[in-house]
Amino acid sequence: MTKNIPYHVAIIMDGNGRWAEKKNLPRLRGHEIGGERVEEIIRAAPGYGVRYLTLYAFSKENWQRPPKEVSFLMDLLSHYLDHKLKEMMKNNVRFNAIGRLTDLPETIQKKITRGMNETKNNTGLVTTFAFSYSSRLEITEACRKMALEAAQGKLNPESIDEKTVSDHLYTAGLPDPDLLIRTSGEMRISNFLLWQISYTELYVTDKYWPEFTEEEFAKAVEAYQKRERRFGRTAPLEKV
Ligand code: FPP
Repeated sequence: MTKNIPYHVAIIMDGNGRWAEKKNLPRLRGHEIGGERVEEIIRAAPGYGVRYLTLYAFSKENWQRPPKEVSFLMDLLSHYLDHKLKEMMKNNVRFNAIGRLTDLPETIQKKITRGMNETKNNTGLVTTFAFSYSSRLEITEACRKMALEAAQGKLNPESIDEKTVSDHLYTAGLPDPDLLIRTSGEMRISNFLLWQISYTELYVTDKYWPEFTEEEFAKAVEAYQKRERRFGRTAPLEKV
């Protein structure tokens, strides 16, 4: 089906720990296999017409997890940035990151900057990882930036509209997601892209993230394609 393509898919990758528990494996193994699913979905997404993929990899609240788990996730991320750049180049993937990146260890910040620079001319899938991300903080920081620009006379408060706000978010330049997938059955948004998902279609699956293979991704896309998006209007739209 080439109709109703979800051009921008965002994913809340949840359930690594529960998957590991179910399999009697250490929690951290769940994150490791979760990393493999990240690679699988990045490889698969362009085949479904997807142009933007945004992944919730580490929330600002995740810093409160046990230090061992946090450092494991940081190591996983560091390893990913060291070893997957080549594949991203080969697959024409553009690497992008959002969140309060200054919270991350400096070595990782450098690797993120290098990844973004090296892939910036790639024209395929734009893969955005959210690290140390909080949507409320993103909106708060946008307000602060706009207030500062207004105080400096660079922004006329009267001219602030929805686009101005969007342009001050970490996601400036990215379209809003068409489809938001959450794995592991929880019916909540968990402080992810609150502004950006105003009209996004939601898809929640009971599968844990380490079980979210391309086949599961295909099911989510298919479910999206059967939906009728109205953007608050009553009449069905011919095209969106
Ligand atoms: C949620 O599972 C997942 C995370 C907090 C981290 C997501 C990270 C990955 C998928 C690892 C790969 C990342 C990169 C960049 C390679 P959970 O631990 O909250 O699971 P639980 O709710 O069952 O405990």
